[in-house]
Amino acid sequence: MTQDIEELYEYYREGDHQYQIAGGEEGCYKLANDFYDVMEKLSEARKILFMHPGDLTESREKLARFLAGYMNGPELYEEKYGPLALGPAHSHLAIGRAEKEAWLKCMDQALAMQDWPEEFKIFMRMRLQTPADRIQNRP
Ligand code: HEM
Repeated sequence: MTQDIEELYEYYREGDHQYQIAGGEEGCYKLANDFYDVMEKLSEARKILFMHPGDLTESREKLARFLAGYMNGPELYEEKYGPLALGPAHSHLAIGRAEKEAWLKCMDQALAMQDWPEEFKIFMRMRLQTPADRIQNRP
């Protein structure tokens, strides 16, 4: 990593910079809504779409609220739904490599739809790889 990128990532990690750059609560909702809009359209994501409740309203809100805390903003998920452990929250689902890749593909497309600096999109995509890898619970 070059010095410049290291400094930029350090800046992203301070305080609630990620949440602010993402556009705060509104930005988190936009990303979550775009993500689920993509999931509803992408044929590769059909299997993971059908793992969700038929009405995605709550899934959209849960992801948006989770993202706020994940980006070091307010803990909006916990405020409404209580504490969340991502692994156990997905353990009733069969998530293999294909399902993880489908989730990440939806996220790639959703990130591309955000009016955010490109470097920040890349940073967020890198951050999301880790929980996605941990959530994968079978080959
Ligand atoms: C690896 C691929 C993933 C798949 C296939 C997947 C799939 C799902 C599904 C089907 C649900 C709804 C569960 C239900 O209603 O029973 C869900 C919930 C959720 N997912 Fe994921 N997910 C994945 C990765 C992630 C990642 C990486 C994050 C966060 C960075 C995340 C955040 C959430 C949150 C916050 C909820 C709501 C949890 C709850 O309140 O129960 N998911 N996911």
